[in-house]
Amino acid sequence: MRKNISLLAIVGLALSGFSANGQDKIDFEKQIWPFVKESCVGCHGPSYKDERGRTRKPKAALIITNKEAFLKGGENNEEEPTLTPGDPKKTAFLQRTHLDPSSDEAMPPEGKAEPWTDEQKALFAKWVEQGADFGSWEKSELDDPEKYAAYKAK
Ligand code: HEC
Repeated sequence: MRKNISLLAIVGLALSGFSANGQDKIDFEKQIWPFVKESCVGCHGPSYKDERGRTRKPKAALIITNKEAFLKGGENNEEEPTLTPGDPKKTAFLQRTHLDPSSDEAMPPEGKAEPWTDEQKALFAKWVEQGADFGSWEKSELDDPEKYAAYKAK
């Protein structure tokens, strides 16, 4: 009986993604995407047409509504990599949230969206350290320009 219980415990730990170094693997879709969406998607989504039919483009050509574009990064990706798996310091997507809110480069721009909390910044850093694994997430429903336009019109 005892043996069965410890076996179950081991299987349980394995299933919950417990790793040898004691760090739980972060789930992008469940733990990261919600606050990235809240604070950043408003200016970094796909190109879309607004109510007056004008084409609106993502700021700095940075689109984060799908994995491929997120990894590709923004227009300055060469000098200032948006996301460097394994290296939070070379990840502008995190570093910009650490800048003084009054700085021109701070993200989100002051007063435009909810800034990340310290816990969210720490979680994002850990996710990057763990390799920036998107898991099974390929894209958000907001990657669709029509859905994104409706989201922006709200
Ligand atoms: C209200 C609009 C707005 C929101 C919301 C916003 N950004 Fe930006 N973002 C911009 C603008 C404008 C630029 C281009 C100017 C600059 O580089 O500072 C930019 C540029 C960037 C860049 C540089 C990309 C490149 O290659 O040049 C990164 C990284 C970035 N944003 C990350 C974020 C993150 C992280 C969030 C959420 C915490 C966020 N942004 C939310 C407007 C926004």
